[in-house]
Amino acid sequence: MEFSALIRTASREAHSDVGSSSFMSDLLGGRLGVAAYRRYSEQLWFVYRALESPADALAADPVAGPFLRPELARLAELERDLAHLGGPDWRGGLTALPATAAYAARVAECARDWPAGYVAHHYTRYMGDLSGGQIVRDTAEKTWGFDRKGDGVRFYVFESIANPAAFKREYRALLDALPVDDLEKQRVVEECKRAYALNAGIFRELAEEFRLSA
Ligand code: HEM
Repeated sequence: MEFSALIRTASREAHSDVGSSSFMSDLLGGRLGVAAYRRYSEQLWFVYRALESPADALAADPVAGPFLRPELARLAELERDLAHLGGPDWRGGLTALPATAAYAARVAECARDWPAGYVAHHYTRYMGDLSGGQIVRDTAEKTWGFDRKGDGVRFYVFESIANPAAFKREYRALLDALPVDDLEKQRVVEECKRAYALNAGIFRELAEEFRLSA
């Protein structure tokens, strides 16, 4: 089986778990206020800072380098969204939940020591953003009245990717060409499951903070 199919199949259950988390369901069901969306976006800032700040260091890496496409970079867009949501001083009150800090630390560790593990994290976030992320954007626009593809939801808008389906095909081809052996591929799959679990941890802590009365 091609590696792109293997990693998708092996992480299907983890994907459906994270997608059906109560925080995501409440968010997509329009049951949460904009403060919850802002808090979630703030957590993403820590995750994407960890994903994107090692980009230069990894650019020449034979395993991770080919994945570092500038059109995927999200941090600048996320910062515009956060400025829109939190005002000019948005950086001031920014705090990482414990689960977010753990996630960002793991991404940083992989970026430093294990490029193939970094690819697992890269895949889990960016392929997700190109896919289900569009559902989040649509909901956020409708629920909190952001301009279509405007400030507040720019994180979900890939201005430089005209054809997401084609981009995802190319991305899968990169996965299929990953220059590592089968045992290492298995480890990458495990790291992808770990990435999903780290996302689930953030959703759990956000659900605690924004608990809806039953
Ligand atoms: C309720 C929220 C979510 C929905 C509705 C959703 C929906 C989807 C859909 C429809 C696809 C298929 C796209 C395609 O085949 O091209 C997809 C793929 C994907 N999603 Fe999600 N998703 C959600 C949450 C997440 C989360 C939280 C993550 C991880 C952080 C994630 C990671 C991924 C990945 C990595 C893929 C690509 C799978 C592959 O083709 O290899 N998703 N998602």
